[in-house]
Amino acid sequence: MHTKPLIDTVAWRNLVRQAANLKNVTLRDLFADDPARANDMCLEACGLFLDYSKNLIDRQTLMQLLALAESQGVCGAAERMFRGDRINETENRAVLHTALRERRDVAICVDGEDVMPAVRAVLDQMGVFSDAVRSGAWLGHTGKRVRNVINIGIGGSDLGPAMAYEALKPYSQRDLQVKFVSNVDGTHLVEALVGLDPAETLFVVVSKTFTTQETMTNAQSARAWLLDALGDEAAVARHFVAVSTNTEAVAAFGIDPANMFVFWDWVGGRYSMCSAVGLTLMLAIGNENFSRMLDGFHAMDRHFIEAPLEENMPVLLAVLGVWYNNFLGAQTHAVLPYDQYLARFAAHLQQMDMESNGKYVDQDGHCVNWQTGPVIWGEPGTNGQHAFYQLIHQGTKLISADFIGFCQSQHPIGDHHDKLLANFLAQTEALAFGKTRDEVEREGVKGTLVPHKVFTGNRPTNTILADKLTPEVLGALTALYEHKVFVQGVIWHVFSFDQWGVELGKALAGKILPELLTVDEPALEHDGSTNALIRRIRAARGR
Ligand code: F6P
Repeated sequence: MHTKPLIDTVAWRNLVRQAANLKNVTLRDLFADDPARANDMCLEACGLFLDYSKNLIDRQTLMQLLALAESQGVCGAAERMFRGDRINETENRAVLHTALRERRDVAICVDGEDVMPAVRAVLDQMGVFSDAVRSGAWLGHTGKRVRNVINIGIGGSDLGPAMAYEALKPYSQRDLQVKFVSNVDGTHLVEALVGLDPAETLFVVVSKTFTTQETMTNAQSARAWLLDALGDEAAVARHFVAVSTNTEAVAAFGIDPANMFVFWDWVGGRYSMCSAVGLTLMLAIGNENFSRMLDGFHAMDRHFIEAPLEENMPVLLAVLGVWYNNFLGAQTHAVLPYDQYLARFAAHLQQMDMESNGKYVDQDGHCVNWQTGPVIWGEPGTNGQHAFYQLIHQGTKLISADFIGFCQSQHPIGDHHDKLLANFLAQTEALAFGKTRDEVEREGVKGTLVPHKVFTGNRPTNTILADKLTPEVLGALTALYEHKVFVQGVIWHVFSFDQWGVELGKALAGKILPELLTVDEPALEHDGSTNALIRRIRAARGR
């Protein structure tokens, strides 16, 4: 229970004043006035270098933002999470994704029981299974080795592993084709199965609940596809494995419990890629690379829990996000990786961030009167430069952005990587410092064209740089954002680990489905628009 609403705290009020003070200050001024700025406003941890000097802050702002984090109890909240308290209060669950990548020989207890032996046992089980599949020792029903792995899952049971599979493709076993199917739109499954031999195909059905409509529908259709070709129910045991917390439902589906990989209710879906939910990823990159990724996650976990706030990378990213979101009126935050292998990174962060902090009710059950989670979006550079960057440079909205880049390419061909990095650096420079009217005119531009060529600058960015996109770096980078989201949730005083907002749509879909299917005209009790749309779709489908 917080004694004062967030916006009435001293720390918050100081920041409101500070935003007014800095209203007319530009990044040009800030860099000119403080020659040490670039040197000082940067930080290195877990293989990541963060330059946050191109933000619309001065040193005092930073201190005030950190004071806000402190006054909201970020340190204590982190300790409670790491030690297994039931901080997910609305679901009465602990939040222990950090235990999944704990590398030290320590006990982490939920209700007095150490979870680490079970965590290690499942990782071992995954390792044995993935070695067997990758080496060809695991045979399909007809005796053929597995050549295709299809992950069936959605949301947290898809996005994290799918993102990491794309990111770590250079570390994957290339003769194993890996695909991720999530959408209940049959197109997704059908297209994934085109040209595949069922006898060489392994399905990994991933669902925490094992009741999710999309996943269960895709899994049933995949099962039918397999049995249609192999004609024997016994084939399911060799071609389907499950990752879930729901043993009964897995058995009811017909998957051999011996081929089930468990995780626990203290693992949130969007924070689950280090659990058995990462099985498909492990099948692709192998146990050793998976373990290297966990090392990276763990390193960032330790950094987060140990580093003082002012040298804490997730905390810095979090408070900078709060600054734009709550004091400068930004609505969205872009994540722009300059690496094609991170093509799915923003999609993973979207769920991680927006499902966590997209809440309008605070931990005391009151409607907030401050902004909470921003819209997260992004695409790899340089593609975005030729699409939406125009709006970031010259639009009317303030958009903060993280630029993520790597010094070494996975594929050093020609001068591709130099060009990629040149663009990476050029964009943050242009966004920060822009181009004045004088500079435009000095280039010989005249008359009515001048204002169109002026760049106001002052568009804030973080630069996150690593040497190379290794498994360790991917782990550290992903954990960086997990903890950033956590810190913001604490500051905004929302529950970051539930997701009640997804329920209403699910319930209504359950009601509408039979209304689309019945032969007789159903009595529709929705609003006028929904009723009319249902009738139109029924008519178009001959019902
Ligand atoms: O609908 C949202 C959600 O509950 C996510 O939080 C979760 O990651 C996803 O659905 C999938 O759930 P499950 O793993 O239980 O199939």
